[in-house]
Amino acid sequence: MTLLTAVRRLRANPTMSLARYAPGPVHRAFHADPSRIRLLRGPNQSGKTEAGCKETVDRCLGRGAWQDVKAPPVRGRVVCHSFKQSLVIQRKLWLSIPKGELDRRTVFDKVLGFRHGWVGFSNGSEVRIVTVGQDMLAHASETLDFIWIDEPPSPDIYAECVSRTIQTRGVVFLTLTPIGRPVGWLRDLVDGRLPDELEGLDAFSGEVAHTISEHHYTMSAEHCPWMSEAQVQEAIAAVPYYDRPQRVLAEWEGLTVGRCFSAFTPESIVEGLSPMEGWPLDSAPVRLVLAADHGEKAAHSFWMLLAYQVDRRGRGLPRIRMRVLGEYANAAGADDLEDAHAVRDMVESLGLRLDHVDFGVGDINTAGKSKGGRKLNDLMTEHFAVLMGLPPGAPSFRVRGAWKGSGSVDYGIRLVNNQFRRLDLQVDARCGMMIETCRHWTGESSGKLVHRADTLRYAVTEILREEDASTVLAPG
Ligand SMILES: Nc1ncnc2c1ncn2[C@@H]1O[C@H](COP(=O)(O)OP(=O)(O)O)[C@@H](O)[C@H]1O
Ligand SMILES: [Mg+2]
Repeated sequence: MTLLTAVRRLRANPTMSLARYAPGPVHRAFHADPSRIRLLRGPNQSGKTEAGCKETVDRCLGRGAWQDVKAPPVRGRVVCHSFKQSLVIQRKLWLSIPKGELDRRTVFDKVLGFRHGWVGFSNGSEVRIVTVGQDMLAHASETLDFIWIDEPPSPDIYAECVSRTIQTRGVVFLTLTPIGRPVGWLRDLVDGRLPDELEGLDAFSGEVAHTISEHHYTMSAEHCPWMSEAQVQEAIAAVPYYDRPQRVLAEWEGLTVGRCFSAFTPESIVEGLSPMEGWPLDSAPVRLVLAADHGEKAAHSFWMLLAYQVDRRGRGLPRIRMRVLGEYANAAGADDLEDAHAVRDMVESLGLRLDHVDFGVGDINTAGKSKGGRKLNDLMTEHFAVLMGLPPGAPSFRVRGAWKGSGSVDYGIRLVNNQFRRLDLQVDARCGMMIETCRHWTGESSGKLVHRADTLRYAVTEILREEDASTVLAPG
């Protein structure tokens, strides 16, 4: 075959793209998943829409490549959030359909898409492409065998789609990057909670066991095997770094504009290292610190385990390499003794022991009247001693009072950012609460984030003070 005939054939049969469709491992698991409601959560430009097209065409033809599907004819719907986005999908869909399988009444135009948003197949299957808004209402009474939602929907649209497929036991599948529209409600559903936003809506009144089967992947050559490593790196570099959590890692949440710990970046997160691995120096010891903010309400007492190593190789001030290893927030009604046990368990879950801890630092609150108004730091110092089998008056380490002079908040934030900027402060991927705080805390003084932020400030400030290594002048 000459090149010219090859090109002619390709022009005559632009369905080559479907014949060649080769998904990544997570796309494939998504296609093979028999759950009624599925979610493919992936980065930008990573084959989500291609996967949705493949799934749509397979279902219309009644030939699932990775699972058995309902026999045709079937009725489906593709939900897009704007006409512009829908045109991109319609073009991809057109390329994915073997032309011999189309009903002859189907008309496609490159500029306008499918006439009436309708795609008919010769086997009697049909799909309607709808844009959220008017189109949806016009078709609201249909029952459907499948619905594909591309990119995050609103809770009402999602509920409407679910209710359209109840009678037919139809499937709903979503392909999306979690950005551009609030997705907290969807995350709740994936985590098995019914969000307020859905309460009382059609398919959800009295619903208890709604589950979404989720398939998540990040931008990499492993997940998107049609890309080379260089192409992956190029795609990542094209995304502004504040959008990377969502657009590259397909995480549920990105970074809040105006957050205080602005030098925290994806590189600040370490994954897959055990606590004593990955330190720059073999010779210097790794020291452990417990840090706390003692709040009164549930989830407001926050404890964190940090490790650090002092690197004195350079000239001038030493570099203090710090890593947040573990965290604990108290449950409703936990008292100081329960907190002490929980902190001990957290330390031990990391393969470490309380007697490895060098010192502690905590907010300077006093315990309630029932404890004679004693300082919580002293109380916890005693609890830890007892848990280690020592007399309460002879602890192996103390929980010191955090430094809280005037200007200490801003000063602490600067120290923390300085550390982050040099990658001298990192957070283990296990510490989801701390990571959330670094991404979102904008300085508000109520809510649970501030307690975690305070804990981080106290810890970093106290470690630098202990090692006499602050590069930022203290106020006053
Ligand atoms: N399975 C695949 N095989 C080959 N190329 C693919 C595949 N999936 C996606 N691509 C390529 O990546 C591009 C972006 O895919 P798309 O599905 O539009 O991404 P997303 O919807 O995730 O933003 C496509 O136009 C195509 O060139
Ligand atoms: Mg897409």
